[in-house]
Amino acid sequence: MQFVAGKIVRNEGHGEIFYRLEVAIPEPVEFTPGQFAMVSGWPGNDPLLPRPLAIFRAGAAPKGKGTAEFVYKVVGRGTALLSGMHPGERLSLTLPLGRGFDLGRDGRLYWLVGGGVGFSSVFPAAAALAGRRTEFEMFLGSRTREHLPPKEWTPGGSAPGRVHLCTEDGTAGYFGRVTEVVKERLAGLSAADVSRLMILSCGPREMLKEIAFAAAERGAEMQAALENHMACGFGVCWGCVVALRDGEKVAYRRVCKEGPVFDAREVVW
Ligand SMILES: Cc1cc2nc3c(=O)[nH]c(=O)nc-3n(C[C@H](O)[C@H](O)[C@H](O)COP(=O)(O)OP(=O)(O)OC[C@H]3O[C@@H](n4cnc5c(N)ncnc54)[C@H](O)[C@@H]3O)c2cc1C
Ligand code: FES
Repeated sequence: MQFVAGKIVRNEGHGEIFYRLEVAIPEPVEFTPGQFAMVSGWPGNDPLLPRPLAIFRAGAAPKGKGTAEFVYKVVGRGTALLSGMHPGERLSLTLPLGRGFDLGRDGRLYWLVGGGVGFSSVFPAAAALAGRRTEFEMFLGSRTREHLPPKEWTPGGSAPGRVHLCTEDGTAGYFGRVTEVVKERLAGLSAADVSRLMILSCGPREMLKEIAFAAAERGAEMQAALENHMACGFGVCWGCVVALRDGEKVAYRRVCKEGPVFDAREVVW
């Protein structure tokens, strides 16, 4: 984990839905897909606390420096102020934080499920899997066509049948919710494929819950990236806990430290 002073390279809106933010940082950082950064630096001190954003990409820049990229949706004051910032302005970042997706198992079939802006955690996982030629399919759900990520952001190439788009109003891809598609596909899988399946998912809690239940019913494994309000972002304040199953008991775990990615079977939904 590093506390770094960054400088905005670009901060562009796409269809007034998603913003893509690229920040120059003093040196490159390595991250696991699903890990995040705490970001602040907007004018004034309201909101006071930094906001968590999944690391979308990170890499090297000339002269030994690094870059970090994020995709965010404006939902409140912090993200609205962030969206008004310009190249050259400074941001404070703490990164990489938390525990990301476990991609360490070869020979598995991966399904990546992103709901809404949840693709910001799922796309880096897709890029990592594509990089090592691992089999995966991606399911992306949104309310309407405009809320799907721009096509050119999709990692892993355009192998036929790899990306399944779902919109609740039917304006692109499957007409319905992404949960319906995933559940339908799960129901049709052979026992052998279920035993190879690992679902990686990020999105609204209700979506995660529904898929977690369907996966558990078929005995498939799933990792869920959870969200919660955060204050420190690195495990000190215990402001971000969620309830997890610990044998017969319930234990509270920090989304910023033990998560944000958890084994979906352990989450008390
Ligand atoms: C680990 C992690 C990674 C995230 N990655 C991304 C990302 O890549 N892109 C992105 O757009 N968003 C991401 N988020 C969500 C993002 O942090 C919030 O949207 C942001 O903090 C909202 O700040 P705000 O000041 O604009 O809104 P606020 O005024 O703070 O809140 C606006 C509304 O959103 C709700 N809300 C705010 N934060 C959260 C939260 N963390 N969980 C649930 N509800 C919340 C509030 O209850 C309120 O209703 C992530 C959250 C976490 C915990
Ligand atoms: S936000 Fe402080 S412990 Fe998680």
